[in-house]
Amino acid sequence: MLGTAWDYQDHPDEFLDRLEALAGMGIAVCNPPDVVRWNADKRYLRELEERGVTTVPTLWLDDLNHADALEAMDDFACERIVVKRQVGAGGLGQHSFSRAQLPAEGWRMGRACMVQPFLSSVVEEGEYTFLFIDGAFSHGVLKRAAEGEYRIQSLYGGYECDFEPDAADLARAQSVVASLPFDRPLYCRIDMARLPSGDLAVMEAEMIEPYLYPQQGPELGKRMAEAILGRLG
Ligand SMILES: Nc1ncnc2c1ncn2[C@@H]1O[C@H](COP(=O)(O)OP(=O)(O)O)[C@@H](O)[C@H]1O
Ligand SMILES: [Mg+2]
Repeated sequence: MLGTAWDYQDHPDEFLDRLEALAGMGIAVCNPPDVVRWNADKRYLRELEERGVTTVPTLWLDDLNHADALEAMDDFACERIVVKRQVGAGGLGQHSFSRAQLPAEGWRMGRACMVQPFLSSVVEEGEYTFLFIDGAFSHGVLKRAAEGEYRIQSLYGGYECDFEPDAADLARAQSVVASLPFDRPLYCRIDMARLPSGDLAVMEAEMIEPYLYPQQGPELGKRMAEAILGRLG
């Protein structure tokens, strides 16, 4: 089981080679290396979109500077954008720019990135998380950002609220899992945010080492144990 591999984004090849070596020794790795490889690069969002999933609108760039940030705002007809690494986690190396707060003239992102319109729902409403164990919905969490922040991670003061999804939102999350190009990962976390249209869109589908919010899912341990036993059996 992948544990606290919280710096894989800075050593992705080493990380993936190591997982493949373990699998090559006949060790059952969960989630398996092919799932992890697919999931380590957020361009998987493009593939999900091609499969009919609603994702947060995204531009994929090899790099980004001042002019690119302005152009992205024009393209999205928005005032504020979020720029993220294509291989990234935990909000690290992420930036938010607005027309009033642009990157400095000489600044560059310096790596492949993804650009999205800033969704105010993340601040006003929060980000929704749906946990799936062995393909089945386990529990939901609503994650809110601290006052003056937009990143919901606890590192930035974010906090969790209980959340019982309604049928429409749950169906959206389930359709994301059904659209994955492989069967039933042991654990999978679908993070979603609401678009101005009211529909939930995928922000990320995490299958590497997501925090699984055990406090919000008291049955999580039992479900994981059963899923692991099923695989070993
Ligand atoms: N388009 C967006 N609009 C508003 N907030 C965003 C947007 N994209 C990301 N965020 C905020 O930044 C956080 C980190 O981004 P995310 O895409 O989840 O990357 P990761 O968690 O892999 O670093 C999100 O949890 C959310 O709080
Ligand atoms: Mg995230």
